[in-house]
Amino acid sequence: MQGNFVYSNPTKLYFGENAITGLENELGRYGKNVLLCYGGGSIKKNGVYNDVISALRNAGKMVFEDSGVMPNPTIDKVLQGAALAREHEIDLILAVGGGSVIDYAKAVSASAYCKEDPWIKFYVNAEMPSTNLIPIGCVLTMAGTGSEMNGTSVISNNAVGKKYGCAFGEILMPKFSILNPEYTLSLPKYQMIAGIFDIMSHIMEQYFSGNDDNVSDYIAEGLMRSVINSGRAAAKNPLDYEARSNIMWAATWALNSLLGKGKTGDWEVHAIGHAITAATDSTHGMTLASFSIPYYRYIMDAGLHKFKRFAINVWSVAPRDMDDTAIAKAGLDAMEEWMREIGAVMNPRELGVTDEMIDGIAESAFKRPGAYKVMTNESIAEILRTAMGEI
Ligand code: NZQ
Ligand code: ZN
Repeated sequence: MQGNFVYSNPTKLYFGENAITGLENELGRYGKNVLLCYGGGSIKKNGVYNDVISALRNAGKMVFEDSGVMPNPTIDKVLQGAALAREHEIDLILAVGGGSVIDYAKAVSASAYCKEDPWIKFYVNAEMPSTNLIPIGCVLTMAGTGSEMNGTSVISNNAVGKKYGCAFGEILMPKFSILNPEYTLSLPKYQMIAGIFDIMSHIMEQYFSGNDDNVSDYIAEGLMRSVINSGRAAAKNPLDYEARSNIMWAATWALNSLLGKGKTGDWEVHAIGHAITAATDSTHGMTLASFSIPYYRYIMDAGLHKFKRFAINVWSVAPRDMDDTAIAKAGLDAMEEWMREIGAVMNPRELGVTDEMIDGIAESAFKRPGAYKVMTNESIAEILRTAMGEI
């Protein structure tokens, strides 16, 4: 059954090898002062910076650079960026990078003219901005988060050891995003695989809820099949353009507000993943991968119908004489095999999680209303211990 919803997604996309030509067109719509946000310097090595700067010059923009946006961007950095944006009366924030840079740009936009503490207002209390927002544009260099076409921003606060997302929605979706798969080819393989698993996880978080007949679930199954095939091909040959372009497009659709419509969703894997990052500052997609198999085995019985459907429609498990439990298990076994094949992290220890950290991570993970099973500190700790080979 489809729930009730409003659907609107205003982000304009330019996709493909010549996508950057769209940037100049778009820049013409905004005022002169542009805040160019980017990360630790990968865009200077792979030529993306030069492409962007030449478009900005051609469009006659005054460019203020805000570099050094770190993976898992911090609220401290956001406050610095917000001060810069105010000081230079920025008309457009151009985020050039992966999810971290785009999430950061959204946070800067919301915080620039905010009179309250942005961490408390947006990330703890999930309140919406009440002051002017600065429009955001994006040039994507890493496929995974879907931030290029959604209104979510995830920020870390190291002082309190928390990482929280704020779903700003339509008001902070990028006005446009430039998606050139070639820009992702310079990604280290570890980051590429992290991105691939992040995409898969976004789809699963939305798929594993409800046992009704919902349009989203059919779209999700197709997207997952595409990510599985392209993920395999990209893991074998990271320079395979066909695979990388499919991954980039699938990433955008996995989390651009379409799949979640009319459904409740789970999102507990992300809640636990964020708690792992808050404790270890590790790579987002790998935090999710490190315990997903034990998590899904833990909740499988409570959502058996859906796990059976997942096995058959996504992993092509042939039901033969198996009962529902055996079919569902075979699906998760196939997923585990795929994750090992592409090189996903399969144990939180590899990310620096220690036995002593387990209870703290379990306690700090946000407990969502849940799809099939509501998590408690104890159940999260048990899942992590299983993932870490303790049980
Ligand atoms: O900083 P630079 O030098 O650019 O290096 C980055 C960074 O070290 C590098 N990189 C990116 N593109 C590259 C490249 N290196 C070489 N060539 C390229 N083309 O990759 C590293 C990771 O980048 P990052 O932006 O951190 O990765 P990702 O896109 O996975 O973003 C992760 C952040 O997004 C949040 C995560 O929690 C995390 O903070 N998420 C945002 C979501 C959203 N807005 O909807 C949803 C997600 O579930 C996620 O929570
Ligand atoms: Zn994610």
